[in-house]
Amino acid sequence: MNGNITFTIIKPRAVEKGYIAPILNMIHKAGFKISALKMLQLTQHEAERFYAVHQGKIFYEKLIEFMISGPIVVSILKKENAVEEYRKLIGNTDPEKAEEGTIRKLYAESVRENAVHGSDSDETAAMEACFFFSEADRF
Ligand code: CMP
Repeated sequence: MNGNITFTIIKPRAVEKGYIAPILNMIHKAGFKISALKMLQLTQHEAERFYAVHQGKIFYEKLIEFMISGPIVVSILKKENAVEEYRKLIGNTDPEKAEEGTIRKLYAESVRENAVHGSDSDETAAMEACFFFSEADRF
């Protein structure tokens, strides 16, 4: 059975450009409930831990540099089949390939500065949610 939570980050450039509210509105309209939400700035160490799976890849260093460059918004979202539904809503990792009407098509600048992160599996969603939120922080 597919899980009912996913985890998302609204990334630094999208925050800087004022897209928090438009992105949260798309999330709301798509039927997700917000279980937890906060704004923060990652340290280098936190960003490296969060993206540890990408360590060694060609884009890793620049990705970390970008992810610590300004505040982000992290959130746990609830919906039936949340991971897959949210991945449909955000579109392809590369905004040039993202489908019309998706968050990345509308708000992303490039594959690195791609507006939002979304978990890629139920297991990852659970781990990423725990990275930022305790059980007491979730509603
Ligand atoms: P995200 O969903 O946050 O997960 C890993 C991130 O790495 C991804 O979104 C992109 O921002 C970034 N990324 C993935 N592939 C590339 C790439 N080829 N070049 C630059 N950044 C990438």
